[in-house]
Amino acid sequence: MLRHFHFESLDSTQDEAFRLAEGGEATPFYVTADEQKKGRGRMKREWVSERGRSLTMSCALEMPASKLLGLSLITGLAVRDALEMPKVQIKWPNDLMLDDSKVGGILVESRSQNSKALVVIGVGLNLLHLQSASYVGINKSLHPQLIANKIIDYIDRFIRLGFSEFRGTFESHLWKLNDQVVFMVDGVKRAVRIRGVSDEGLLQIEDGQGLKLTDQGEISLVS
Ligand code: BTN
Repeated sequence: MLRHFHFESLDSTQDEAFRLAEGGEATPFYVTADEQKKGRGRMKREWVSERGRSLTMSCALEMPASKLLGLSLITGLAVRDALEMPKVQIKWPNDLMLDDSKVGGILVESRSQNSKALVVIGVGLNLLHLQSASYVGINKSLHPQLIANKIIDYIDRFIRLGFSEFRGTFESHLWKLNDQVVFMVDGVKRAVRIRGVSDEGLLQIEDGQGLKLTDQGEISLVS
């Protein structure tokens, strides 16, 4: 059974997980909070959550620093699997989408300790529709332990087998596969078609000049 630290209120479960691990708590473990006051998302964005309507958790573990590429996609697959909702898709690299609404986000942060990395995987899920903002929920409750176990299990297999073993499964759940979307890198938008992912987890996009692989950028539907 994974160790679990629960808090009534925290600024961010990410910070608490790093604090505990760096203070000597043995990994793996996971941290949950009923309320998060300074939740953060990818690209330094704020993450909005609500007591009783959101799930906020962070899972801390150690892994080889050389295996981090592809990790964020694997975490998306793991959380999607834990949800047991066939309709949920993954917007590259790891947003959880129900129809065209984001219902969950994952933040992977790591601090290297020579050849090892301390990795903290933060999961934010809208279990119900949020009241303060028009964010859609999955309308389902689930135990964070389930999610933490899936994350540990997927990462174990990912370390042994590499991302290529998961590529087909990832593409089968990839949001907007083969569709035309707006792709934004460094504030510049362009129309591209999503063609899949590489064996390393890079996004494969097609524009007027052909196929390209990218490890950054964001997919949206609106220009
Ligand atoms: C994103 O989509 O931008 C990622 C959002 C990740 C949010 C979760 S909530 C639990 C953990 N604590 C945080 O401060 N962020 C992550």
